[in-house]
Amino acid sequence: MSLDFALQPSSHPASEADRAAALAAPAFGRYFTDHMASAVWTPGEGWHGARVGALEPFSLHPSAAVLHYAQEIFEGLKAYRHADGSVWLFRPEANARRFQRSAARLALPVLDEADFLASVEALVRADEAWVPVPTTEESLYLRPFMFAAEAFLGVRPAERCVYSVIASPAGPYFASGVAGVTLWISSTYTRAAPGGTGDAKCGGNYAASLAAQLEAREHGCDQVLYLDRTGGEGRLEESGTMNLCLVTSSGELLTPGLGTILEGVTRDTVLTLAGKFGLTPVERPVTVEELRAGAADGTITEVFAAGTAAVVTPIVALKSPEHSFTIGDGQPGKQTLALREHLLDIQFGRVPDTHGWMRRVL
Ligand SMILES: Cc1ncc(COP(=O)(O)O)c(C=O)c1O
Repeated sequence: MSLDFALQPSSHPASEADRAAALAAPAFGRYFTDHMASAVWTPGEGWHGARVGALEPFSLHPSAAVLHYAQEIFEGLKAYRHADGSVWLFRPEANARRFQRSAARLALPVLDEADFLASVEALVRADEAWVPVPTTEESLYLRPFMFAAEAFLGVRPAERCVYSVIASPAGPYFASGVAGVTLWISSTYTRAAPGGTGDAKCGGNYAASLAAQLEAREHGCDQVLYLDRTGGEGRLEESGTMNLCLVTSSGELLTPGLGTILEGVTRDTVLTLAGKFGLTPVERPVTVEELRAGAADGTITEVFAAGTAAVVTPIVALKSPEHSFTIGDGQPGKQTLALREHLLDIQFGRVPDTHGWMRRVL
């Protein structure tokens, strides 16, 4: 039976003035809406206690398994307000399915796709006033997550797990945004290995990325580009929160194949849209040396990163302990900007949704 995320309205919602101030300059992940969706799982009862209630802190026993063993997963998707006032989600079914795959990898209980969608939609309905009217690319970022809440010490799957969804109005993810970002190619840290959790969206992956992120900052870069160093030659994987795509002079949209990277919804979307821009989608291993040589001889013309939060973000330069190089003339690429614009046009309902990717909530 499906869960009913019925609304129990908050008794203390933000004032209209506070909400307006947050929506005027939302940044990313700084403000949160009035409500949250939640449900609890135990082996005996399965999923139960579904509701949308006031946003409130969790109360956890100090031995709660998530605090010690990081049994936790999450998702990220957005709700977009269209010009006629309606509110839509972009490919939320893909997030629901990835959440299920992440749950299986982290030995967490699986949530039905229908329940995932119901929880997200119920929260968007409850907090509709928080869905920004876009001036550029503002939207409501939705963060479904699940964690091990059982109180015990010992390494085994928890028998009490909490699922929740919170929401946060979002502006551009990078301050430099479309101007392009610089990536640090770390030789100290890797993100994933075969058989590990690289293809799951679990908190532990991001905890392990923070030292690399600090290293990137120390070198004046915005984000990390991780390599797969098994085999020695250094194959491109992905960035901290985005998949990596290359445009070649022969008209390919080239991206590393799946395996140890996160299967990005945006990655799949741009691969599907490539043909519209005269590009052939190609998934294959790419070494860092191929990227460096291609940037130098002009066979790699553009590089961009793709992800829900950052949409399509131009990568204009890369640095490593050995090299520092720009892509093209160091300016955002034409195809990159065209793909970005088209994707935003689909998400904000400015062009027809020919792939059936948009799901109306309100
Ligand atoms: C490590 C990582 N790679 C790629 C992505 C892009 O995935 P998506 O396009 O589904 O947001 C994300 C963001 O969720 C991420 O955290």
